[in-house]
Amino acid sequence: METLDKITQLYLSRAAISKILDSIDSNLNEGGLSECDQVKLLKLTILHEVAIKFPACLKYRSLFLKKLIALLESRNIEIAEAIYVNYTNLIANNQEKDINYTSYLIKGQVITVEDTDSLVEEGTTGLHCWEAGKQFISFALSHQHLFENKTILELGSGVGLTGIAISKLINPSFFYFTDCDPQVLSLIQRNIDINKCSNCKVLPFLWKDENDSKCLDTIKPDLIIGSDLVYDPIIISDLLDVINRSNRLKLSMIFLFTDRKTDVLSQFEKALNSNKDLHWEVEILLMDKDLFFDHSSTEFKFHLYKINV
Ligand SMILES: C[S@@+](CC[C@H](N)C(=O)[O-])C[C@H]1O[C@@H](n2cnc3c(N)ncnc32)[C@H](O)[C@@H]1O
Repeated sequence: METLDKITQLYLSRAAISKILDSIDSNLNEGGLSECDQVKLLKLTILHEVAIKFPACLKYRSLFLKKLIALLESRNIEIAEAIYVNYTNLIANNQEKDINYTSYLIKGQVITVEDTDSLVEEGTTGLHCWEAGKQFISFALSHQHLFENKTILELGSGVGLTGIAISKLINPSFFYFTDCDPQVLSLIQRNIDINKCSNCKVLPFLWKDENDSKCLDTIKPDLIIGSDLVYDPIIISDLLDVINRSNRLKLSMIFLFTDRKTDVLSQFEKALNSNKDLHWEVEILLMDKDLFFDHSSTEFKFHLYKINV
């Protein structure tokens, strides 16, 4: 049962296809995989009810079936017709609007987001789910008291996965998603709708915009959060303005940034130190791979910053 769950979780979260096939391969017994088992396998993956409603992009689905066929052939297993039918339907399909959805099963709840694989698309980094955003969910789940019954404002929300997970799995009193990019803002709204999140709102917030920044004074959130916001030194001074303004309002802040082994985070820390009124601490975290069933060999390291927490 655990393995079947694992195959579904890997597939829905669009893990590397080799990982899913390894998991299937390790379960092939000497009798191979009967036609009935192969249909069951389709129902755990490409025909799973969540995958039917919110499918992965065509490329991922067709590659999955192509590699599954190759695996079964290499094990001399007769391939069920259903697999061929699904595969040919996919490769002949050029009418479907190719939206990519990724679904995560976290703490028994399915969270689905529309997102992209490419790190930068249409001039923004905000259409992709970044590792730091996922790690933030892990941090929040193990520190729920910091989020429960709090009004939270997220900077640079991107796809919105972090805020949606916090809204659905923890119980903040209200959650503000913010970003500067109009396409990202409408993507967040679509993802909020998919997940039927309540008690939340999407706001445009460009950090250097004085008018946008006033939302901090009017909302006075209990907590400001952000993940993967410092990846380019050029961003630091605008973000620091927001941090300094929030500090004057005595707001608490938690940020979690990926350490990409460049000196951008030390530049950020230097900038934090330039304000003597700012009291901050940093902790180094390693990726919680179990939460997202991601057992890739990439070892991400993160810096968790707490200010006034
Ligand atoms: C690398 S993405 C991280 C997205 C999300 N937090 C995550 O972890 O998946 C950075 C996000 O910050 C937003 N951003 C970058 N510079 C910004 C600025 N000056 N003002 C507001 N948002 C900004 C981008 O639009 C993008 O959505």
